[in-house]
Amino acid sequence: MKTILITGGTTGIGFACAEYLSANGYKVIITGRSDKNMQLALDQLGDRATGFLSDTSNLNDIDNLVEVVKDKFGKIDGLFVNAGIFKAESFENTTEELFDETMNINLKGAFFTVQKFIPIMNNPSSIVLMSSIVVFKAFAQASAYTASKAALESLAGVLNVELAQKGIRVNILAPGVTESPIQQKSGMSDEAIKDLLEHFSNTSPIGRILNPKDMAPVLEFLVSEKSLVLRNEKIIVDGGTTM
Ligand SMILES: NC(=O)c1ccc[n+]([C@@H]2O[C@H](COP(=O)([O-])OP(=O)(O)OC[C@H]3O[C@@H](n4cnc5c(N)ncnc54)[C@H](OP(=O)(O)O)[C@@H]3O)[C@@H](O)[C@H]2O)c1
Repeated sequence: MKTILITGGTTGIGFACAEYLSANGYKVIITGRSDKNMQLALDQLGDRATGFLSDTSNLNDIDNLVEVVKDKFGKIDGLFVNAGIFKAESFENTTEELFDETMNINLKGAFFTVQKFIPIMNNPSSIVLMSSIVVFKAFAQASAYTASKAALESLAGVLNVELAQKGIRVNILAPGVTESPIQQKSGMSDEAIKDLLEHFSNTSPIGRILNPKDMAPVLEFLVSEKSLVLRNEKIIVDGGTTM
């Protein structure tokens, strides 16, 4: 049975992927910061899932996470670097604090999560970096977030070159606007969230807003050996909104 670790697997897209993988024969490990969300997630996931509280922006937490995962599971077959935040703010009003918080979670945390998990990745194994369509379609109020995702994507090529000998492949998942708790945490007003979701629902070729469950089969493809020869690919799952 393959073991897949999902950072930020307690809610939204990470949780939907954990649910899908555990229902399809994978052992799943999820992380998050909120104890309450972790308990809710584990209650729903059942026996095949394990959870650890771990703040991805804290390097000691990542070290501890690697240790406990190694003790309990040995090596892992897939790493979905999914934990991330988005706080809506104009470029002109983006503070150093917001910039650092975004970069520390979305980029630095992702960078060191990959680095520290390498020794316990199987050969072959798969790393999936969670990006976003913001990297190639500009959204107002998303400058720090966009920069964090663009920088994260830029790592994939280098990682593929350096980690190929270890049988580790790295690919990118780039969702479009997906209805999840991220919007409520973004600082956007309820009205602005409603407008955003309605806009993408009305203009999408699929005629509705994306749901976290839409990402799960694609993630499964990327962590399974079905994608063994893919390297540095970006799969855009946006219902066609950016075509
Ligand atoms: N929803 C979209 O429209 C969309 C589109 C493109 C890309 N994405 C990306 O998809 C990923 C998941 O987002 P989502 O929409 O599913 O949002 P979400 O429901 O808010 O999920 C975020 C997950 O990340 C965890 N997390 C956040 N900061 C963390 C930290 N410092 N350490 C550990 N875990 C942390 C959260 O747990 P806690 O609550 O416990 O912190 C939660 O499990 C993000 O990287 C996001 O940028 C989302």
